[in-house]
Amino acid sequence: MKQPVEGFSRLTKNQKIDWLAKAYFANPEKAVTIFKKYWNDDEKLQKLHDEFIENTITNYYLPLGIAPNFLINDRLYTIPMAIEESSVVAAAGKAAKFWSKRGGFKAEVIATEKIGQVHFIYKGDSERLQNYFTHIKPGLFNDTETITGNMKKRGGGIIDIELRDKTDELENYYQLHCTFNTLDAMGANFINSCLEQFAKTFKEGAVEYTAFNAEEKKIQIIMSILSNYVPDCRVKAAVSCKVDALNEDRMPPEEFADKFVRAVEIARIEPYRAVTHNKGIMNGVDAVVLATGNDFRAVEAGVHAYAAKDGKYTSLTRASVKDGTFRFEMEIPLTLGTVGGLTSLHPLVKLSLEMLGNPSAPELMQIVAVAGLAQNFAAIRSLITTGIQKGHMKMHLLNILNQLHATEEEKEYFVRYFKDKTATHRSVTEAFYRLREKA
Ligand code: MEV
Repeated sequence: MKQPVEGFSRLTKNQKIDWLAKAYFANPEKAVTIFKKYWNDDEKLQKLHDEFIENTITNYYLPLGIAPNFLINDRLYTIPMAIEESSVVAAAGKAAKFWSKRGGFKAEVIATEKIGQVHFIYKGDSERLQNYFTHIKPGLFNDTETITGNMKKRGGGIIDIELRDKTDELENYYQLHCTFNTLDAMGANFINSCLEQFAKTFKEGAVEYTAFNAEEKKIQIIMSILSNYVPDCRVKAAVSCKVDALNEDRMPPEEFADKFVRAVEIARIEPYRAVTHNKGIMNGVDAVVLATGNDFRAVEAGVHAYAAKDGKYTSLTRASVKDGTFRFEMEIPLTLGTVGGLTSLHPLVKLSLEMLGNPSAPELMQIVAVAGLAQNFAAIRSLITTGIQKGHMKMHLLNILNQLHATEEEKEYFVRYFKDKTATHRSVTEAFYRLREKA
């Protein structure tokens, strides 16, 4: 049985790799070679990446692709996407091209309010707690001034602090429910620093508050943390055109619009479909969030919670046909930053943002939402016409050929060969070995 390793974080990077290779790999030398192959020759750049996290042993590559021709609010964008799934960038590019000829995407930020909470236990009279809160509230703002100064100068900061009584749901449980405007920063550090100071001021002030009895003075802070559920930090993206303009080679426009609306309605009422439908949206959202150095886990958590906000998980998009006009739209919560965090550190993130014209956070929210809507459009378009596998497997073909260690010539041959055939794992493998046998 393996023994726990002591003092691991103090080992050098090489020592960590050696330990790992010996402990876990049948061929330690090969493992070390592979880990090191992914190191960057530029030592400064490598060190930058090493220091993003603890115990870095190597870099983990994801392709960074681009989807051009995104017309958003009458401005053309080329969108950077970091993702491993073969068909996503191609689908984005196709949807972008389709809508660029039909007026493009419209996007609008609805609100930019972020939330954080101090969760605490108070055993006493709730009216006296309310009075204490009114008394201490200015102190909560005052004591965070060193943290909020710069943000306030730029027009952001703490919007409000509310006392919330949650004792109906959990005995003696209350919250300071706080709202923030963090401008172009994602704001996690700013919000959490403010919350921790609120908690300190709130707890210490209670001890001094003469109207409290001995038990009431002992406020117990459980935790102080931002919420990734941000329904009031929300963006809308939409496309629309006359049904006649949905002309394409796959199907008559009326039938296309009708099937499309049905497909979205199914995702609205059927959670099994809604999850996959929304996963497709997140293919676009996450890829841009990642390319721009933002926190995709936060975005995922918030978006899926929003999809279930009415008590049942449902589609994030809606589609309709009214008076001969097809409309397809989505509203999602997004907390993104274009300053701070990785945005000023990771060279590829900086280039991704520059590619987008160094957007403000609200502008990036619009771009990300459009990438999600475009991805959903592309997926539904395939699903209701040719089926998803045709395009998907075409893109996956190179992955299969790489697994088979095909040469460049063989790859070129099979891309041509499968142009008019259905590529499945089996059909590609069989055709590959047939060719090799002939050679
Ligand atoms: C695959 O990554 C995403 C889709 O399954 C989305 C969908 O079904 O709408 C194609």
